[in-house]
Amino acid sequence: MSVTKLKTGFPTKSHWNLQDNSSYQAWRAEKLKGAARSAESRAPVEIRDLANPSESEIAELVRSCRTSNGVLYQASAPADDDEVVRDQLFGFSSAIGLRIAEQHRSAGRHGIVALKVSRAEHQRGFIPYSRKPMNWHTDGYYNGPDQKIRAMVLHCVRPAMDGGANQFLDPEIAYIRLRDENPGYIAALAHPEAMTIPEHREKDGKLRPASVGPVFSFDPDSGALEMRYTARTRSIAWRDDELTREAVAFLAGVLASDDPFIQNVTMRAGQGYLCNNTLHNRTGFDPDKTADSKRLVYRIRFHNRIPRS
Ligand SMILES: [Fe+2]
Repeated sequence: MSVTKLKTGFPTKSHWNLQDNSSYQAWRAEKLKGAARSAESRAPVEIRDLANPSESEIAELVRSCRTSNGVLYQASAPADDDEVVRDQLFGFSSAIGLRIAEQHRSAGRHGIVALKVSRAEHQRGFIPYSRKPMNWHTDGYYNGPDQKIRAMVLHCVRPAMDGGANQFLDPEIAYIRLRDENPGYIAALAHPEAMTIPEHREKDGKLRPASVGPVFSFDPDSGALEMRYTARTRSIAWRDDELTREAVAFLAGVLASDDPFIQNVTMRAGQGYLCNNTLHNRTGFDPDKTADSKRLVYRIRFHNRIPRS
């Protein structure tokens, strides 16, 4: 079996260290205070020219991401030409200092993926290109360690007629919920073999290697918490350990709850969500299959975190 192993890294900031409860409590209090402030005012950040965001607009996006790892924005004048939006998003992400990860097989120009209902051979049967709901996950959870996804944009060009709502949750809040319940849950999910996605033979015959790694890891350069997760229950193997099973069940409960820090968004045309690869899901949309769905969401994945966040 071909296997990609992901390293755990080690906590470089003391509040991630399970032995250092006082640093954790101090960080936790600040974090929840900031998150509560953000939750109160969730008006999107207005971007006057999406292709060329101003310094003050970028500063506001970065400030929000520093507090809660994600931010909703609104282009003041949404373009209706799909290719124009693609160019604008390229300018937008470059201005923020993000490095596009282009390898995805469905990536089009600028490495941007069009999430829409597709009957194309290479997309048929894949949930992102269908009307079906998508369960909670972070992006690129099956990637190898050199292809980690640390930031992402979902940008709505055209909403669905019905449904297609997203929920977002900051991984640091998920960490807090788990650690408050039982610090052993964090240890279990930071184990280097906590979560395995088995190898997979693609339709084109290519083999995607098995991906074995932790749910929580800590970037040694930035000290940032990183999360690799999927709520899927098929084609996944959790480490065979009682505490891991309990932790996974507890996390699923948090994600299914009405936690006040879960952000519910139905994006309108010109709106997008910029984040440090936060947890997210999607409801199904446009259930009437006799009519075409016009929903188009662009997805851009990045190798680096949002700078200064
Ligand atoms: Fe996703």
